[in-house]
Amino acid sequence: MTLEIEVDRELNFIKYNLIKKSKLIKSIYCDSPELVWNCNCHVDRNKYSVLPCYIHSNLDADFLSVYGNKTLISYSGVKVIWLKSENTRPSIDSFLLLQFTLKWLKTHKIISVLDFACGSGMIGICLKKMFPFIKIDFYDRDKKELKSSYDNYLINSLEKKSAHFYEISSFEKKKYDFIISNPPYLPYNLLNYTSEEFKKSSVFNQNMEHEFFNLINQTKYCLFNISSINRITEKILARKFGRFKIVYNYSVPLRIPALFTENNSFILEEMVKLKLIIPVKNSYHPFYHLINGFLFY
Ligand SMILES: C[S@@+](CC[C@H](N)C(=O)[O-])C[C@H]1O[C@@H](n2cnc3c(N)ncnc32)[C@H](O)[C@@H]1O
Repeated sequence: MTLEIEVDRELNFIKYNLIKKSKLIKSIYCDSPELVWNCNCHVDRNKYSVLPCYIHSNLDADFLSVYGNKTLISYSGVKVIWLKSENTRPSIDSFLLLQFTLKWLKTHKIISVLDFACGSGMIGICLKKMFPFIKIDFYDRDKKELKSSYDNYLINSLEKKSAHFYEISSFEKKKYDFIISNPPYLPYNLLNYTSEEFKKSSVFNQNMEHEFFNLINQTKYCLFNISSINRITEKILARKFGRFKIVYNYSVPLRIPALFTENNSFILEEMVKLKLIIPVKNSYHPFYHLINGFLFY
């Protein structure tokens, strides 16, 4: 059995399709994309929210037995494989970035593109599929992630020679028209207590900062997500590189399981006071934060 998570191009809905031998067995439809990831269902929710999680109360044992075990995630006709044990999955923030970029690229003359911190490769693969004339490169410092973008590139019937996959930052010597990234954007100072695994994919690290600064300097356009929780990075980037604008901002569910699981209500309350996160009453997700799309030019 395979689970396919189908994300609507305009993010109006998400479907969970259970497939057996190419036949659709059952399907669950969610009319709000925010419901798809990290419901934090596993933690004690009583303090913040009493609603049952829509997904976990609707997905039955069949769905849950295959979830994360070679799950297919599809967006705009592109499919990527997500293996829970191996790689990070594209998330609501990846799709917000893509939704903006697919429109933005129609009015900008862009040939060479780098998907920086590519993970599954969903972003770069979608761009190549929609705009076949672009020259796309992928970079992730994690070998497993890079391998997954390579595999996903091929399963989407793209020619393997039509892209480069960089495991180390040798692309730094190249010049791109456009760098797109949904980087690990959470602040490192806040997240000292989270697992190494989580840090690797979610915390904006010093390496990243160094590489980013070099890249922004030599690139025509750079677009990436930063969370309102990460005000420090926002400020550094804004100060160093005057020419930027915020091209979108959306509230999205907070995806930091450690904040929920380790009795960190003090930290959560501090974050609420600082207006870094917004508590959402009567929601499946108790907290939201703001994702800003920064375009440097
Ligand atoms: C939040 S995931 C995003 C993956 C993908 N862009 C997406 O939207 O689905 C962040 C990715 O950044 C990678 N990463 C973390 N630090 C990095 C660094 N210094 N340089 C390059 N990639 C990095 C991680 O391995 C992970 O794949």
